[in-house]
Amino acid sequence: MTTSKDLSLEDRILKLKQEKNAVILVHNYQLGEIQDIADFVGDSLELSQKAAKTKSDVIVFCGVHFMAETASILCPDMTVLLPDMHAGCPMANMITAEQLRQKKKELPGATVVCYINTTAEVKAESDICCTSANAVKVVESLANNEILFIPDQYLGHYVSTKTNKKIHLWPGYCPTHTRIRPEHITRLRQEYPEAKVVVHPECRPEVIALADEVLSTGGMIRYARSEDVNDIIVGTEMGIIHRLRKENPGKKFIPISEQAVCPNMKLITLEKVLWSLEETTYEIKVPEEIRLKAKAAVDKMIAIV
Ligand code: 13P
Ligand code: SF4
Repeated sequence: MTTSKDLSLEDRILKLKQEKNAVILVHNYQLGEIQDIADFVGDSLELSQKAAKTKSDVIVFCGVHFMAETASILCPDMTVLLPDMHAGCPMANMITAEQLRQKKKELPGATVVCYINTTAEVKAESDICCTSANAVKVVESLANNEILFIPDQYLGHYVSTKTNKKIHLWPGYCPTHTRIRPEHITRLRQEYPEAKVVVHPECRPEVIALADEVLSTGGMIRYARSEDVNDIIVGTEMGIIHRLRKENPGKKFIPISEQAVCPNMKLITLEKVLWSLEETTYEIKVPEEIRLKAKAAVDKMIAIV
């Protein structure tokens, strides 16, 4: 008789997932083996939209803390699990709710747009949320011409180049994306003169200035699929290369920098996903008062995209 101990890790996860009526949501930066067991792989916007619609009892969120927290904000009756409690986003920790309250006092006329890479407490203090896929659209949808954009100064700067509104920036940044430098692009353009360069809007402005396209991770997946280009130089976290190569076997994907690795994203392993399902760990819950306020900011974003 086959016992579950004879099964591979992947098969044990899939079996338990069915028994628990769970869904596995995976961000584009996760390790290849995690992407391969996913029910759905996507960017922050796609994952929050998927979470909002899911009918399962359990969501195993393979990403970082703010992503699981957003799923929990949208699905309070579901059990949302993050397989490693230490998988945080350093950028999300670059602003606290108290710091935001102080800043709002300094800028009483500004509408607060928070990047989804924030804690629930910070979302609860914000007017509307955005992701890298819709930041320009969200800002443009607002009646107010004065915006406080938190916490990513580089995404905020990119938005400011696409709108006439006055954007106040917060000095947050992604340690992974800031490792990508203009000289990396210059060198690769010489090596691959036919290639297109796509970069994430969390990159520095001098990197963005050299790119052909500025896209969220989901935008990069669609670009690779639909554009008639063979060589694509990719300026974002390395994990996305697995999906790009898997979905486009005939195309060449060249990472701009192999140092663009988010260590927090890599904390999620197959063993931890299995334990997470076995032990129902680590459950992500947001206090109801904060959840309702944070949900209002996330719902406003979902309504306009
Ligand atoms: P995306 O929403 O583009 O997937 O980005 C999330 C993120 O954390 C980028 O570093
Ligand atoms: Fe946060 Fe950067 Fe990692 Fe994205 S890549 S989760 S912004 S640290």
